Amino acid sequence: RGPRPLAGKRVLVSAGPTYEDIDPVRFVGNRSSGRMGFAVARAAAEQGAEVTLIAGPVALDTPSGVMRVDVRSAEQMRSAVLQHATVNEIFISAAAVGDYRPQSVAPHKLKKTGQGLALALTENPDILAEVAALPEHPFLVGFAAETESVEEYARAKLLRKNLDMIAANCVGNGCGFEAEDNQLNVIWREGSECLPRASKLVLAHQLLARVLERYQASGRP
Ligand code: C5P
Repeated sequence: RGPRPLAGKRVLVSAGPTYEDIDPVRFVGNRSSGRMGFAVARAAAEQGAEVTLIAGPVALDTPSGVMRVDVRSAEQMRSAVLQHATVNEIFISAAAVGDYRPQSVAPHKLKKTGQGLALALTENPDILAEVAALPEHPFLVGFAAETESVEEYARAKLLRKNLDMIAANCVGNGCGFEAEDNQLNVIWREGSECLPRASKLVLAHQLLARVLERYQASGRP
């Protein structure tokens, strides 16, 4: 067993996609595998944290020692995150929350009409921004999957959502969604650091070291 720098810290992690139902057999989803978030949860537990993992629909085993809560939709993820947010010192939001959901869920399987189908969508709440707006909120780490101008967009997101840190990954080039490896650009108000391509577990450990460093620099207990 290695060093346990996160001993005594409670860490909340969200991971995976959300599925937004259209009818009893169809949904709107995305390609997040949940692997980065699960790696963060595993690494945090290995570093001694008490970890709660809010997981969207993924086919992954629960990391050892982690308390897991399964959800499906963005609204379910929102209530699970809000329920746990204030008792944790750190919230790492790695979930790929669907931006939109169908305006209504059809009670029966939709039938083909030969006419095409327009699906009306409603915007989902921004869970991370809601947590950031709580009067007493944990240290907040967001993820940003970008395909271009990665650092610029991620920094704008850090400021707009009022986060402490953001981990940006460039999707594509064998990295990111559905991939084994990743590379992260970790950004905070005063600086940034590139974590070169590595396995998601290795990156998760490196990310957590930066998170703890910034957490302590922020003067939190
Ligand atoms: O704005 P964007 O979706 O790129 O921001 C990504 C970050 O915000 C991630 O940390 C993600 O978990 C979080 N997020 C959220 N609720 C949403 C959309 C994104 O918590 N509805």
